[in-house]
Amino acid sequence: MAKYVGILTAGGDSPGLNAALRGIGKAAIGRYGMQVIGFRDGFRGLMENRTIALDEQALSGILTIGGTILGTSRDKPTSMPVAGQLLDMTNLIVDNYRRHHLDALVCLGGGGTQKNAFHLAQRGLNIITLPKTIDNDVAMTDVSFGFDTALGIATEAVDRLHSTAHSHHRIIVVEVMGHRAGWLALGAGVAGGADVILIPEIPYDIEKVAEAIRRRSRGDKRFSIMAVAEGARSLEEAAEEERAAARQAKARARKPGWRARASVPAAGPEGDYTQAGNAFSLAKRLEKLTGLESRVTILGHLQRGGTPSAADRFLATRLGTACARLIQQGRYGVMVAAHGEGTRAVPLKDVAGKRKTVPVDHPWVQAARDLGTALGD
Ligand code: F6P
Repeated sequence: MAKYVGILTAGGDSPGLNAALRGIGKAAIGRYGMQVIGFRDGFRGLMENRTIALDEQALSGILTIGGTILGTSRDKPTSMPVAGQLLDMTNLIVDNYRRHHLDALVCLGGGGTQKNAFHLAQRGLNIITLPKTIDNDVAMTDVSFGFDTALGIATEAVDRLHSTAHSHHRIIVVEVMGHRAGWLALGAGVAGGADVILIPEIPYDIEKVAEAIRRRSRGDKRFSIMAVAEGARSLEEAAEEERAAARQAKARARKPGWRARASVPAAGPEGDYTQAGNAFSLAKRLEKLTGLESRVTILGHLQRGGTPSAADRFLATRLGTACARLIQQGRYGVMVAAHGEGTRAVPLKDVAGKRKTVPVDHPWVQAARDLGTALGD
């Protein structure tokens, strides 16, 4: 009997999502004779039964298109906004999965989606996931699709800002996305030749950053480009976050199920996504400390929009076709991870709730240090 497969895309969109949908769908339909249905807008669409037929026609011509033809949302099964309240809608989602007689549900997403998907797998659904995010912070995969495209866009921005920073003798702070991981800022900073790179994993000392810029000025380079991760933190902010995390852990130990209020962002991949605008205060402080004028460029969602790079299309297609193969074999409860030239199925329990951050001794960090790039420490 033909297998019946559902697919949804959840969390922030990412270049390569449509390539992945096409890869899964084409292999599932053309090679294994399965039927495929899409749910709109992430887990919300599964809850509300909003579907789209993913037949060969729907999957045609989408390889190069950015975003996701299914739509997406950050809504979680366990806290879905319904009539002004956050409700646990897991039971309805499980019922709808059964109502559609699905043999498998494929969830394409980042860290939060992996966690939500694992929750559904624990409720008995046959779940497979793919890692997508421009942040590259999904655990247990070499890389996630979307990262390469965003890296290209951020690198081009750093390139372009050089000539204007140089001409006006300014500091230009480029804020790069990445949530609480520094992969994108570090990658774009190294590839674009930034003079300073600040990432969350290496809390910075503002004095050391200022001194690196002053040193450049003394050497007749009266401009500096700084690639700053949106989650970059000063030493003081990092220390405060650690204290707050310790307080939360204590409170949780006293009262299981306790959740912190919004003052300190949650430490997991479900943490808040709002941009703090730290780049502006950082630039102002550096103006005072260096005597150079500063400007800020926030790349924002430009990094997520538009055509996926060749590397992301290729990766998404590799992961997508491997996913169809796993469904054919009946292997569920796994994420299809990128592993060297190939792929591997990683148990969802090893992915959910984890985050891949930049190790401080990572070769990319080493390369930046060897170049003489200031990392603020
Ligand atoms: O996770 C991807 C990401 O682009 C992060 O880099 C960023 O912090 C966040 O999403 C922005 O989220 P939203 O699109 O919901 O504003």
